[in-house]
Amino acid sequence: MSGSAQGSSRPVALISGGSRGIGRAVALRLAEDGHDISFCFRGDEQAAANLEKELAERGARALARRVDVTDAAAVRDWVDVTERDFGPIAVAVTSAGITRDKPLLMMSDSDWHDVVDTNLDGVYHVCRSVVFPMMKRRGGSIVTVASVSGLYGNAGQTNYAASKAGIIALSRSLAKEVGRRGIRVNAVAPGLIDTDMSAVLDDQVKEQVTERTALGRTGLAAEVAEVVAFLASARASYVTGAVLPVDGGL
Ligand code: NAI
Repeated sequence: MSGSAQGSSRPVALISGGSRGIGRAVALRLAEDGHDISFCFRGDEQAAANLEKELAERGARALARRVDVTDAAAVRDWVDVTERDFGPIAVAVTSAGITRDKPLLMMSDSDWHDVVDTNLDGVYHVCRSVVFPMMKRRGGSIVTVASVSGLYGNAGQTNYAASKAGIIALSRSLAKEVGRRGIRVNAVAPGLIDTDMSAVLDDQVKEQVTERTALGRTGLAAEVAEVVAFLASARASYVTGAVLPVDGGL
């Protein structure tokens, strides 16, 4: 799938895991901010096609590509195609992620590796691919989607929390490496957000988390997207290496 009309002067945003949830909300929000959007997804062709249509309705060019972020070559290719068809990538947002929640004692090796490969290696592959062209142009903004689990830990999520803590460390370190080239790197750490990912949680677990928030409720994908859009934009021009919780005051 790919968008039409070449030659637009809108800045380009690349989003991993754009077809659903937080990534989808980020795509729509960045389109509102005037970006053309290149997003990848893993499986749901129909959801990706629907989003392409919604983005076009907002006046954005949209490129949807089925890319497994664990595949370094496929990510590289997606970044190359985006720059070739749409132009320089100004913003990259890494939202692709999965959970395989289980106590460590019950965890299989594949539960561990699937989560770390997707969540952490996936972010590495996107950053590795976008950072060189951004450095050459001396500008760009990367926003990674971590999690409060990566900040505080969470029982049943050793694999997920480790991957998200890794994303936080990667983001802070990369910010230090590329800041002088005009590239900012920041992370958001969402709490419990209403998406397909959190829909599988027991109501009891959701209530326990909600009770621990100052705002007494779960969050919306659009509320995370708003913060991502801020960090991605020139409004956050002196913000880099930051990890911003979007957790209702957990
Ligand atoms: P979701 O399950 O609704 O969407 C996940 C997206 O990632 C989908 O578009 C899917 O196609 C994509 N994806 C998954 N594996 C992929 C792969 N190997 N290659 C390419 N794309 C892949 O999840 P949600 O809730 O929108 O999560 C987005 C991000 O936010 C994730 O990184 C998640 O860990 C993080 N997050 C979510 C929270 C929540 O409560 N929903 C809380 C904290 C962080």
